Amino acid sequence: MTNDPTAKPLAELGVADAQGVARLFADVKNQFTSELDVKQSANDWEELRGAWLGRKSGVLTRITDNWLKPSPPELKRAVGQALNELKAHVEAALETRRLAIEAAADQASLEREREDLSLPGVIRALGTRHPLRQTFEEIEKIFLSLGYSVVAGPEMETPYYNFEALNIPEHHPARDNMDTFYMSTPPGAAPFAEGAQGKPLLLRTHTSPMQVRTMEKQQPPVRIIVPGKVYRRDNPDATHGFIFHQIEGLAVDTDITFCDFAGTVEYFVREFLGPKVKTRLRPSYFPFTEPSVEVDATCVFCGGKGCNVCKQSGWIELFGAGMVDPAVYGFVNYDPKRLSGFAFGLGVERLTQLKYNVNDLQLYYQNDVRFLRQFA
Ligand code: DAH
Repeated sequence: MTNDPTAKPLAELGVADAQGVARLFADVKNQFTSELDVKQSANDWEELRGAWLGRKSGVLTRITDNWLKPSPPELKRAVGQALNELKAHVEAALETRRLAIEAAADQASLEREREDLSLPGVIRALGTRHPLRQTFEEIEKIFLSLGYSVVAGPEMETPYYNFEALNIPEHHPARDNMDTFYMSTPPGAAPFAEGAQGKPLLLRTHTSPMQVRTMEKQQPPVRIIVPGKVYRRDNPDATHGFIFHQIEGLAVDTDITFCDFAGTVEYFVREFLGPKVKTRLRPSYFPFTEPSVEVDATCVFCGGKGCNVCKQSGWIELFGAGMVDPAVYGFVNYDPKRLSGFAFGLGVERLTQLKYNVNDLQLYYQNDVRFLRQFA
């Protein structure tokens, strides 16, 4: 204020009575109101408060010093009262403004934080269970319901468990079609693990070694399935992989017959492939079962009428199985006169393929999400 009346003593302003005092204070109040009107921000508020209520040089201090203190006795009361009123007005108005500024700031921050529920959400891709894993779980469930337990075994095996104890001696022709990965021994390294009898370990070519490992540890009744990876030296193509998956099955007790075997097989196939599917047991050969069979099912694609998949035969090969060969019991001190049982070896890729009509094995290992998503 260039011509600020509060900078001058009361006497110089020509105020002689209470009405003059009232007018003077009304002008000052108007001045405050107009300043309050234009100064709206939080910073402005600080400035305004300093300008009006500041102890050293605020307007009210100036009025006290210039008007109240030197006022003639007859006006002192009027000036004092007016000053008090002005002060109360300024304080109240500033407080109201402070609350408004605070409320506006709160509102602004609420606006910033507000979620817009109409915006499209973030869609995250959900993983799916791999088709092979689904087959594992389905088969495990079926056999668990029949009282089997699920056990796991080592992928690195000794020739003894993988071959000898399964009635596959060295030079047996059955070793030929199980092209085996053998571990190499670094020069100067200690002989291979306990039980390997100095022979190199191998990657198991089937899950059957767990038949022997289980019977070694456990007395009958035995009812187990063994899901797991197996390895063979094959070149990968649509029907071969050097790693694939099997589920071994073994049931041994005092009174298990071929009928129990056939019934279990039929039950499993129907549970897995559906109630319409028929099974047949076709004579086959495995060194560790006698008799041995291949389990066939009526073709899941044509219902048995004949199609490309079943090569017009109406039947498809599912898996190998048989009654445990008494020679195997000899390796685990089971009494073959007292005990009997059956075993089977399910190919997980094969069974999965029949279910989903996937004709290239490699699709299972490439983890292409376009393939995997179809099994959600
Ligand atoms: N181990 C056999 C293989 O990998 C499959 C097999 C056949 C397992 C007959 C069995 C069986 O338990 O009884 O080719």
